[in-house]
Amino acid sequence: MKLFSFIILLIAINLTLICNYSNNSSYETTQNKVLKESIKRGNAVYSDFCINCHLPNGEGVQNIYPPLANSDYLRANRRKSIKGLKYGLKGEITVNGLQYNKYMPPMGLSANEISDVMNYTNHSWGNKYGKIVTTEEVTKITR
Ligand code: HEC
Repeated sequence: MKLFSFIILLIAINLTLICNYSNNSSYETTQNKVLKESIKRGNAVYSDFCINCHLPNGEGVQNIYPPLANSDYLRANRRKSIKGLKYGLKGEITVNGLQYNKYMPPMGLSANEISDVMNYTNHSWGNKYGKIVTTEEVTKITR
């Protein structure tokens, strides 16, 4: 009888583990899917609003438009970058060792568009910059 209850206990533990595992991995798959779709929409936003200055490969134009590809600024300044897209960015900044003191005007993008384009730039041209940017995160950032 003791052995029997022990076996039941083992089965119960296993079931709990299996459930937790599959819940977790399906959560991750959903998150990946959400990110992928956001990147896809962000690609379209990029082509409409950013490509003229930062160029298709994200390299920018030296001393005029800073690069987004492999940009240490973008990697380290998630909040400031989002703020720049919402309200414009001016003043001196250093990107990959070069100084820029220009002006990026606000483009009138919605919080959705900003989160999508951030996800695109954070995960393109070899960039792997952090977790997904959500619309809520963009909405919360104010001047
Ligand atoms: C009219 C040209 C122009 C357009 C269009 C433009 N930018 Fe910029 N961007 C700039 C300039 C100039 C700066 C540097 C501003 C400064 O010197 O303070 C900049 C800076 C940045 C930075 C921070 C610095 C870096 O290189 O990491 C990010 C991030 C950025 N832009 C993203 C975008 C995204 C995303 C879009 C499209 C939604 C966009 N920009 C559209 C001109 C532009």
